[in-house]
Parts: sequence; C-alpha cells; structure tokens
Amino acid sequence: MSEEIGKILITEHEIQDKIRELAKRITEDYSDRDLLLVGVLKGAFMLMSDLAREIKLPLEFDFMAVSSYGSATRTSGVVRILKDLDYEISGRDVLLVEDIIDSGLTLNYLLKYLRTRKPASLEVCALLRKEGIQKAQIDIKYEGFEIPPVYVIGYGLDHAQRYRNLPYVAVLEEGEE
Ligand code: IMP
Ligand code: MG
Repeated sequence: MSEEIGKILITEHEIQDKIRELAKRITEDYSDRDLLLVGVLKGAFMLMSDLAREIKLPLEFDFMAVSSYGSATRTSGVVRILKDLDYEISGRDVLLVEDIIDSGLTLNYLLKYLRTRKPASLEVCALLRKEGIQKAQIDIKYEGFEIPPVYVIGYGLDHAQRYRNLPYVAVLEEGEE
C-alpha cells in the first residue's frame, strides 16, 4: 500500500478565515463568563492554538487525550482516556475543542463524561464534521466546515501519526503499489 497527500479540501487561508469568524462569536458569547477551553489531543492542538489567539478574552486551557482509532481509518466506537483533565470543571464554562466529528461516538462519550463533572455550561467547537454519518445526535455550536465522508489529513489530523503539521486539510490518497 502506498499513500500520499490527495486533493486539498480546505486551504490554509480558508481555515484561518473560519477560525477568526468562530473566535469572534466565541468572544461575544463568553464576554461575561469564565471560559475554559478543553482540547482533545492530539488532533485539536493546531485548532486550539490558532483559535485561542483569536479569542479576545482571559481564558484558561486544559487538555484531554483519548484514543478511538489505533492506526486504522475506521472508527471502533471504543474510547480510551489516555490523559484526563488536570483541573476541576465544576461551575466552569467549558468549550470542548475537537478536530473532526466522524461517527460522533468520541464526542458523545466525552460530553457524557464531562457532564458528570457538573460544568456551568458545556459547548463544542469542531473544525470539521463529516456529512450525514453521525451515529450519535450531537449539537455542535461552533462548527467550521462540513466535508464529505472521506478520510482527511492535515491541520492536526493524522494518518498513523503523520501529516498533522500540514497547514491545510487534504484527502488521504491510498493506492496499491
Ligand atoms: P468519531 O468518534 O468517529 O467521531 O471519530 C473521532 C476521532 O477520530 C476524531 O477526533 C479524529 O481524531 C479521528 N478521525 C475521524 N475521522 C478522521 C479523518 O478523516 N482523519 C483523521 N482522523 C479522523
Ligand atoms: Mg480527535
């Protein structure tokens, strides 16, 4: 099997424009609140960094790490927490930052888990959502782009841990060698 970077679905410029737009809404919505950004590692690290720089509020960060895939390109539905939150979130206004919603199983699990810790509010910001294949009904308040149900790489997203550093989102091209 060979693999390479395929068609660019979302350019660097489009991503940065969208992030400014989302950050503006978040800045307005959280102006009198106590915002805590919770990033889901590793995929959300780029979005976290770019988004946070555009949010004009005193905010705090925390990170969780979960594993849902191994190195395969299909969802297993099994979520393992590799790193839990460092801080208590009870009474905090939590914004969960995710790279991509595919089946929605990972996010669904995380939201249930975080709700048991009684945040004052809990919303989701996700850069990408694959069209029409969510197995779980999820309300994403701050959504970047809808994409077709293909495997994508770049801007935090990996295939077997590679390609996360690409500044754009592209289709993973897999072929027989
Ligand atoms: P879900 O549980 O099926 O929604 O999958 C969620 C997680 O799988 C995401 O947070 C990503 O880390 C990973 N994932 C899903 N689709 C892709 C993709 O197209 N490229 C890279 N990672 C993906
Ligand atoms: Mg992820």
